[in-house]
Amino acid sequence: MRRFGLIVVFSALLGGCSTSQRTPVSSPLVKRDFEQRIDRLLAKMTLEEKIGQLNQFSDRADTGPGNNRGDYRKLVAAGRMGSILNATSPARTNELQKIAVEQSRLGIPILFGLDVIHGYFTTFPIPLALSCSWNPDLIEQTAAVAAREARADGIRWTFSPMVDIARDPRWGRIAEGAGEDPFLGAAIGRAYIRGYHGESLSDANSIASCAKHYVGYGAAEGGRDYNSTEISERTLREVYLPPFKAAVEEGTPTLMSAFSTINGVPASANAHTLNDILRDEWGFGGFVVSDWTSIKETIPHGTALEGVTAARRAFLAGVDMDMEAELYLNHLADEVSAGRVKVAAIDEAVRRVLRVKFATGLFENPYTPMRDAIPPIAPADFELARTAAEQSFVLLKNEGSVLPLRNELKSIALIGPLADASEQMLGTWAARGDKKHVVTLQTSLSDFAAQKKIELVVAKGCEIESFDESAIAAAVEAARGAEVVILAVGESRGMSGEAASRTKLDLPGVQPKLVEAIAATGKPVVLVVFSGRPLVLTPYVDRAAAVVQAWHPGLAAGPALVRVLSGEADFTGRLTTTFPRSLGQIPLYYNNLNTGRPLVDGVDLSRAPHKPRGGFTSRYLDEFNAPLFPFGFGLSYTQF
Ligand code: NOJ
Repeated sequence: MRRFGLIVVFSALLGGCSTSQRTPVSSPLVKRDFEQRIDRLLAKMTLEEKIGQLNQFSDRADTGPGNNRGDYRKLVAAGRMGSILNATSPARTNELQKIAVEQSRLGIPILFGLDVIHGYFTTFPIPLALSCSWNPDLIEQTAAVAAREARADGIRWTFSPMVDIARDPRWGRIAEGAGEDPFLGAAIGRAYIRGYHGESLSDANSIASCAKHYVGYGAAEGGRDYNSTEISERTLREVYLPPFKAAVEEGTPTLMSAFSTINGVPASANAHTLNDILRDEWGFGGFVVSDWTSIKETIPHGTALEGVTAARRAFLAGVDMDMEAELYLNHLADEVSAGRVKVAAIDEAVRRVLRVKFATGLFENPYTPMRDAIPPIAPADFELARTAAEQSFVLLKNEGSVLPLRNELKSIALIGPLADASEQMLGTWAARGDKKHVVTLQTSLSDFAAQKKIELVVAKGCEIESFDESAIAAAVEAARGAEVVILAVGESRGMSGEAASRTKLDLPGVQPKLVEAIAATGKPVVLVVFSGRPLVLTPYVDRAAAVVQAWHPGLAAGPALVRVLSGEADFTGRLTTTFPRSLGQIPLYYNNLNTGRPLVDGVDLSRAPHKPRGGFTSRYLDEFNAPLFPFGFGLSYTQF
């Protein structure tokens, strides 16, 4: 406690901008020759050029609201844009890079960033799905393919891995992470980083990683995206920080600061998490980029009244690069003139950015070879996507051994709005993934049926989100004529990911009625659920003989599913996030703390409601405490 007090006094004496004191000598990013080259560059740079390195704009309004500026070429030529996101293609990145390298005074190249989250051209399963493989080697391979493809398009830096721990499936961004366990989350975060970086950040097939969203973003209250969080220091350190610490240890050169507040302080202006923990405790030598306008959003958060204060606070707290808010560009120079920000602190932030530019080999190889057309998906990459999908599926129920599909089957009905939904298979962040490369369940099952001489009847039944019930009757007819029904239901890709929180974790539209009607035929139903989050499957589990959680599996959805449904491959996926029995149980996760009044003898919910056993213990009057499917759950075709 006393030591902590002394540190506080010291930092106060240093004027709150002790950033220059924070250069970690132990970071693997700190290399002597780079530091010397950086010193030489810094000596030549004007203040404007330095601040330019701390500024990032988006080439398109793709992943955020956009800024309507038409002066990018001018800004780049003036050395006022250190990084650009959302520029894809060799032609576009080279065009801007040429201006930076050949027309700007010091020729400092631009670092091009993009959200390469679960593949680039080759779309792999969403990260939550991939995590269910519990297979870091496999995940590393997917990241390496993504890096190779993105790099060939001019991308040098991905905003991945997303290592936010998520305990609330209402939060749509649960799809982007590795679930609820910090240890597994850390191992998987490391795997992505190894895959993106390869042997060296400067390799021709490597891109730099960015661990995000630092920190606690997954604890958004009510599961509503961008909402505030209350996280005790203990929970921060035990749950939310470990995957970031692992990412730093694995050598991630950048982190992204989150939109959210932590205990009232914006994560993008949080000196405790950014300076004290990340830099002082962990010795991080890379740079921190804000999330999209998250520096400006400290104004509505209430910690700054206007842009200039927002810029100063974020900068002094340790955010080095401003994504899209334009506040560093507009205000930091004045803050230096006014003496509120020291030049040494600016130099230190620029040093961190330049370190990454040197480490990625940008100065030596600023351009990307041109090409005539987008390359086709390589067969080996498709195979990897299929393996990844296969290992991410989780078999939740298999009663009466309805799966694997029997050899003697004569007829199957394939029903449901997700059976042939190529676009939806791509999942939440598909980068340049294209639905024309997706092979759907319907396509693969048709091939399988033709080969095995099984009659396959197909009926959509309904759309994903519509309330039109008119096609249900035809689907029921199809089910009646078949021996087994495969029922493909779930969410569209837009229902999870950023800004896609939900309060009803049910199947959307009239899908509940479709399931009900098909189940009423009495035919054995194999329910295949495509979603970006755990849904509350309680109403459907009893109506289906088998339940497969398929997530959004990427472009090899169909072949992967047919392999596991037919028994050619086994189900090896296990849940990395708890499936609640009722919405009211959320947040529900396996590593919760003990209650002083545990429910010891279980609950008999068949007794009169509100008068069950277990009074004065930690329980619900109307629901079990236990989840529908716990963390780690998943069946295989074995008997053990
Ligand atoms: C906002 C998202 O929160 C973040 O994950 C993403 O990397 C940036 N936009 C850039 O697209």
